[in-house]
Parts: sequence; structure tokens; C-alpha cells
Amino acid sequence: MRKLNILTIGLSMMAGVVMSGSAAMAAGAGGTITERDWSFNGPFGHFDKASLQRGFQVYREVCAGCHGLDYIAFRNLSDLGYNEAEIKAIAAEYDVVDGPNEEGEMFTRAGIPADRFPNPYPNENAARAGNGGAYPPDLSLMVKARPNGANYLYSLMVGYKDAPEGTEVPDGMHYNDAYSGHMIAMPQPIYGDDITLAGDGDTSIEALSADVTTFLAWASEPEMESRKRTGIAAMLFLLVMCFVSYGSMRYVWSDVKK
Ligand code: HEC
Repeated sequence: MRKLNILTIGLSMMAGVVMSGSAAMAAGAGGTITERDWSFNGPFGHFDKASLQRGFQVYREVCAGCHGLDYIAFRNLSDLGYNEAEIKAIAAEYDVVDGPNEEGEMFTRAGIPADRFPNPYPNENAARAGNGGAYPPDLSLMVKARPNGANYLYSLMVGYKDAPEGTEVPDGMHYNDAYSGHMIAMPQPIYGDDITLAGDGDTSIEALSADVTTFLAWASEPEMESRKRTGIAAMLFLLVMCFVSYGSMRYVWSDVKK
């Protein structure tokens, strides 16, 4: 009886750990949040590489005009399935401020894989000045920074609506279903057909929003896949050890019990 209890306690503890990893967070951000099934959710979650690449394209062609991605270096793009030459070419398309040189001057050069994504604005004041006083926050950690981050970000992208009858939208503000308070300074960034994807990828607002969300979920936790793999390996190890210790316990006690 006691042996069985130890075994059940062990197994249920492990089940508990596995389940707590996949439990969905509930809290929204005060607006209407659409819950979606993301490939990167759950203990076996992974990032869909094709979606990551499309999302990166959306970031580059749309979001990067206003938002930085300060914590991501070009070389991190290997996670998206790009090879070294492709990453070098992508980096070289960006101007990066470097220096000071021997004369003490800062200078601009083409990006290299070790550089991080350059911010569209030199500082916060310039960013505010360019956006009617509102500050477009860095997007590197955005999915982690907001409760229910991926669903929130997706809902924000698809949440632009006409304001309900009788609601006054101040100048420079936009009505958004997902944003808490519904008035956001960011104009609708994704309209759909304004982006041309390789092949005949889906360019609906919903599909592009899902892709950019996947990309920003990766950006906020590039090591997620290896973290989950390690977790699964640890669980398997514990499971095996559970049987080994149960077996040895029976063996050690077998003389006494006889
Ligand atoms: C024209 C500039 C501009 C573009 C382009 C733009 N944004 Fe924004 N974004 C802003 C501004 C300004 C804010 C701050 C809004 C506020 O404080 O009301 C913001 C805020 C945000 C926020 C934070 C919302 C919150 O909960 O505080 C997210 C997330 C975001 N943007 C994502 C994106 C994504 C993803 C894209 C690309 C698809 C994008 N933005 C494109 C200007 C922009």
C-alpha cells in the first residue's frame, strides 16, 4: 500500500508540473481579446518557421517604421531558418551607427550579423515627436510584457474598428477593441493587401497579424524551443528515475517483507 502511495505521489507531482506549463493565462488587458491556438503554446510548442519569416517581413515593412527591436541581433535570425549568407545580406540592408572613429566622430556603416536591429529613432524624444507625443515601445519583449501577450498582440492588430455611435475619438487617436480604454495613438498598422508575400501567402489582416505575433513571440523568447525540449527531457528522466527508485526500494525491502 505504502509503495503504491509513493508511486502515485511521484507521478501526480510530475503530471502537475507538466500541466502547469501548458495552463493558459486568463487575464486580458481590459479590451476584447481573441484566444487563438498558437503553435508555440503548450509543453511541446514550437515556432512555425514559415510564419516566423512572414512575420519578420511584416515587422520590417510595417512596424519597424516606428518600433525598435533592440534586443534582437541579425544573427539571431538563424532561428527563422535563414543561412549565414542570407543573414549577412539582410544585415547589410541596414545602416548602423558605429564609432567613435580615430577622430572621435560617430559614423554610419552597413550592418553586420553581430549588430542589433537599429532603432528607427535616435532617442525617446524623437520617437514621441514623430508620433504626436505617444511613444512606440520597443517590441523585443512585448509579448512577455503584456498579460496573455500573443493573444493580446493579435487582438490589437485586428482590433481597429469604427468607434461606436456617440463615442468621440480625439484627434490623433484611433478606436481599438483590444486596447484598454479603446483609444490608442497607433494608427492601424496592418491593412492586409499592402504586403506582398513570397509565393501566394495569405495577406488577410488576420493572417499577417498572426504571423507578426508569432515573430514577436519568438523575439521575446528565442530560446523557448530549447527550454521546452530540456523540460521534456527532464520529465522523462524523472519518470525513469521514479521506476528505478521504486524497483530498488522493493529490492532493498524484499528481505524484511518476506
Ligand atoms: C506610425 C507608427 C507606428 C507603426 C507603423 C506601428 N506602431 Fe505600434 N505603436 C505606435 C505608437 C505611437 C504606440 C503607442 C500608443 C499609445 O501609447 O497610445 C504604439 C504601440 C504599440 C503597442 C503597445 C500597445 C500597448 O499595449 O501599450 C504594440 C504591441 C504595437 N504598437 C505593435 C505594433 C506592431 C506589431 C506593428 C507592426 C505591425 C506596429 N505596432 C506598427 C506607433 C506605430
